[in-house]
Amino acid sequence: MDDYTASTYGDRIADVYYRWFRQGLAPAEQTVEALARLAGNGPVLELAIGTGRIALPLAARGLRVQGIDISGATVARLREKLDGTDIPVTIGDLADVAVEGLFSLVYVVFNTFWALLTQEDQTRCFRNVATHLTEDGAFVIEAFVPDPARFDRGQRTSTSWVDTHTVTLEASRHDPVNQRVDSQHVVIREDGIKLYPVSIRYAHLRELDLMAKLARMRLRDRWAGWNGELFTEDSEMHVSVYELATSG
Ligand SMILES: C[S@@+](CC[C@H](N)C(=O)[O-])C[C@H]1O[C@@H](n2cnc3c(N)ncnc32)[C@H](O)[C@@H]1O
Repeated sequence: MDDYTASTYGDRIADVYYRWFRQGLAPAEQTVEALARLAGNGPVLELAIGTGRIALPLAARGLRVQGIDISGATVARLREKLDGTDIPVTIGDLADVAVEGLFSLVYVVFNTFWALLTQEDQTRCFRNVATHLTEDGAFVIEAFVPDPARFDRGQRTSTSWVDTHTVTLEASRHDPVNQRVDSQHVVIREDGIKLYPVSIRYAHLRELDLMAKLARMRLRDRWAGWNGELFTEDSEMHVSVYELATSG
């Protein structure tokens, strides 16, 4: 996808994001509860804040929350929400972490760390986050556990929605060398077809831990879910909590 840029996903999906994802995600309350516990008194920074699914309920608990997102269209949807005008948002790349100050919690949820399409950008993100953590601060990543077996000879097509007027397909190509997946959500209706592209670069868990090490951080906890579920070889998602290697 030659003309795919960091903002393509957010700009295309901004209008349908909430409708598509309000079902099928872990209930936001569990995520918010766990993040609030990790944040202590804050302040908190969300990388790729989107339309504020997590940031708004965290702010409603009295925490000072700010965000970064690359898509102006998505941030405009956040601003349309009743309480969505108070949260400072920097338009920029989550790898840069181009904000001022220190945070007791920096987090990136819902697989969005994978939006950084190279190992270099992912490592840079860790390094930049490390410069924005308080001494006892936490950096939290929520993402799926990579499963290359999902793909058959480098491709996968699945049906994610069917009703009497619509069918939504997900068509993906997998590049195992670069750990990259290029996908299109294809929405077919009688009046036409819409395409929602997304590209990701996944990293294996020990690779993430090594990126943390390069940034002078270390793994504090790894759960299989937001309630602290035990992480095992069968876990399909992980919540990884990193801290500065100098803390404690
Ligand atoms: C799946 S949404 C997640 C939004 C929110 N964190 C949530 O959980 O609902 C992904 C968001 O990441 C943003 N995004 C994608 N690549 C980015 C990048 N390189 N830097 C900053 N934001 C990015 C998109 O614009 C979009 O708002």
